[in-house]
Amino acid sequence: MSVSTTSRPRVLLTRRIPSSSFELIEHRCEVEVNEQPGGLPPEELKARIADKDGLISVVTDKVTAEVLDAAPKLKVVANIAVGYDNIDVAAAKARGIVVTNTPDVLNEAVAELTWGLIFAITRRLVEGDRLVRRGAWKGWALDFMLGSELGGKQLGIVGRGRIGQAVAAKAPAFGMHAVFAARGTARRADDELSLDELLVSSDVISIHAPMKPANRHLIDRKAFARMKRTAYLINTARGPIVDEAGLAWALKERLIAGAALDVYEREPEVTEALLGLENVVLVPHLGSATRETRTAMTDLAVRNAVAVLEGQPAFTPL
Ligand code: DGY
Repeated sequence: MSVSTTSRPRVLLTRRIPSSSFELIEHRCEVEVNEQPGGLPPEELKARIADKDGLISVVTDKVTAEVLDAAPKLKVVANIAVGYDNIDVAAAKARGIVVTNTPDVLNEAVAELTWGLIFAITRRLVEGDRLVRRGAWKGWALDFMLGSELGGKQLGIVGRGRIGQAVAAKAPAFGMHAVFAARGTARRADDELSLDELLVSSDVISIHAPMKPANRHLIDRKAFARMKRTAYLINTARGPIVDEAGLAWALKERLIAGAALDVYEREPEVTEALLGLENVVLVPHLGSATRETRTAMTDLAVRNAVAVLEGQPAFTPL
């Protein structure tokens, strides 16, 4: 009887994944799955990655240069996310490690959540729900809990990537006109404005930019002061793009009408001052959280990892 001497690549999955995605990898690789909810503390991640060829990570795993140094055999980090600010991509590339993300498959899920948040804040849905539950509803009244309509208004989108465009594509269905913040100094398209022009003229401003150092606090106190007092801010991108303390101030002072957030500066912490305000909707990083999309994301991450480990090009490398 001949015994195969070629061993299968070893992969660490920092989370359990849907069984259909797991089946794609379990026959090709030796898979170790972290079963602890909430992921692995850095020291444990370093210990468990030491003998691995591949890592399949999520947004809350911090894949730092130090973590990568603990994994001399690592060939691929496949992030189950479109964002990759949790990974030191430059350090990975310098070590010859391929990093992949999961673009496209989550565009619609994030766009739908964005529109859900736009409706929730402009029509005061969560505030109304809270009021009913605490028994404070006294009945229908002509001027009770009035919100704002979307028809004829301007949607200002910061970030003209795939998700920003998916959000814009739905704007005509609600009678809105979408404009984008122009990137850099390149020639502007007809539907592009400078960020300042977008801030002063939009009724709803929705963030869809990636997290990179230049975008930290892109929306700060000065930006809120430029916005219409009737404007709403939506953030389903990354928390640190918005100055959360500045937002709490702007909402309290009624510099803007409202905000709806899916992402936060220090997740899962939320700036205390926001928690007591009625004019903000707060949801827990649910942008891509549909069964369909999370399965598509894990499938793509797994296919990326397997491709690299079998010597093929990744499907969606960075
Ligand atoms: C992403 O894909 O970057 C999301 O934030 C994860 O849900």
